[in-house]
Amino acid sequence: MARESWTSRVGFILAAVGSAVGLGNVWRFPWMTAEYGGSAFLVVYLCIVLLVGVPGLLAEFVIGRRAKRNPAGALARLAPGTKSWGYVGLFGVVTGLVLLSFYSVVGGWIVRYFVASFTGSYFAEPGAYFDAISFGREAAAFQIAFLALTALVVLGGVRGGIEKATKVMMPLIVVLLAVLAGWAVTQPGAGAGLSFYLDFDPTPIKRNPIDMLRAAAGQALFTLSLGVGTMITYASYLGEDNSLAFDGSTISVLNTGVGVLAGLVVFPLLFAFQGGLSDTASGGGPGALFVSVAGAFQQVPYGEIVAVGFFGAILFAALSSSISMLEIPVAYLVDEHDVSRRNATVGLTGLVLVTGAVCAFNPGIFGFVAGTLVDLMLTAGLAGFLIFTGWVLGADALAEFDSGAGGVARALGTPWLWSVRTILPLFLLVTLAVNLYAL
Ligand code: PHE
Repeated sequence: MARESWTSRVGFILAAVGSAVGLGNVWRFPWMTAEYGGSAFLVVYLCIVLLVGVPGLLAEFVIGRRAKRNPAGALARLAPGTKSWGYVGLFGVVTGLVLLSFYSVVGGWIVRYFVASFTGSYFAEPGAYFDAISFGREAAAFQIAFLALTALVVLGGVRGGIEKATKVMMPLIVVLLAVLAGWAVTQPGAGAGLSFYLDFDPTPIKRNPIDMLRAAAGQALFTLSLGVGTMITYASYLGEDNSLAFDGSTISVLNTGVGVLAGLVVFPLLFAFQGGLSDTASGGGPGALFVSVAGAFQQVPYGEIVAVGFFGAILFAALSSSISMLEIPVAYLVDEHDVSRRNATVGLTGLVLVTGAVCAFNPGIFGFVAGTLVDLMLTAGLAGFLIFTGWVLGADALAEFDSGAGGVARALGTPWLWSVRTILPLFLLVTLAVNLYAL
C-alpha cells in the first residue's frame, strides 16, 4: 500500500502545531514555572526554545522528510551498514509509549473535568476535589476514555484522522485561551500573579542555575515534541518540498504563543482566587491548572459554560498531542513490520492501558515519569537525532534543509548544521549528565 501523506502544507503545519500545543503548554508549563520560580524560568525556557528547540525541530524534519519513514526505519535507512542508528530511532518509539502512559492520566483528568464542568461539581472545593480524583480507580477509568479517543483518531489515518481533527481543534483552543486570558488579567488580585510570571527576577537562577537550566531544557523539548521522533514521523508524511525552516519557525512561534497565553490564564487566576501558590500538590504542582481555573469559574456568572468551553479546548489540545505520541509506534509497526494500521493501533493502545494504569494508581511513579524520566529520555533522544543529522547525514542534511527553501532560509543552513554538529549535542549531553546526577 502506498504510504500516506498530508493533503497540504497547512495540514502538516497544523498537525505539527497540534502535536506541540498540548498539556505541555497549559498544564506542565505553569507547573514547572511555579516550581522553578516564575519569570526567571520563563526567560531561561524561552532562550532554550529559540537556541536549541528550533534547530532541533529542523533536524527532526530533515531526517523525516528525507527518509519518509518512522524514526527507527528512518535512521536505519539513512545510515546503511550500521544497525546501531536504528536503535536510536527505536528508543524514540519506546519513548512515545512511555510519554503516552503518563500523558493519558492527565488526559483522563481533563475528560473528567470536562464532564464535571456541566454541573460545576468541583467549583466549591477545587483543591480537595483534585486531590480526591487525581489517582486511583476513577483516574484509571477516565484515562481509558482518553486513550479510546486517541486511538479513534489514529485509526482514521494521516489525512482522515490526524489532519482533519487538528484542523478543527487548533484554532478553537487559541480563541478560547485568548478570551480567558483577557478576562483573567483584569481580575482583582491578578497583578501579583502577573508579576510572578512576568517581572524578571533573577534570584531563582542564582540560587540553582544548573537545576533551572535542566528543568527549562526538559520543558522546551517536551513542549515542542522533540527527542521522541514525532516530528520525524510527521515530516515523513510530507509530499512536496517546502521550506522546512519557515514551517519550523511558524510552528515554534505558535507553540510558544499558546504556552505564554496559558500562563496568562493560570497565574493571574491562581493569585486572584487562591491567594497565590501553595505548597500542596494542587497549589503549584500538577494540580495548578485545575485548581486555579476552578476557583475562577465559581465566581463568574454561568461559570459552568465557561468551564465546559475551557476544558473542551484543552481536551482537544491534549488529544492532538496524544495522537502524535501513538502515531510513532503505529508508524513503526506499519512501516517496518507490515502490521495493519488497525491492528497496530489496537495492540499498542492495549499495551498503554497497562503501562498507563501503573501511572494512574501511583502518584510517585507518575511524578517520576512525567518529570525526571521524560526529561531524561527526550534529552537523550534529541542528542542522538542531532548527532545523527550533523555527522551521519552531514552534507545531505544541508541539501534536505535547502530543498524548497528560499534565500533567507538557505543562508541559515550552514550555521544550523554547525550548531547541530557541535554546540547543541554538547549542551544536551551535559544536560543529560546533570539529569542523571540529580537522580
Ligand atoms: N508537545 C506536547 C505537549 O506540549 C507533548 C509531546 C511531547 C507530544 C513529545 C509528542 C511528543 O503537550
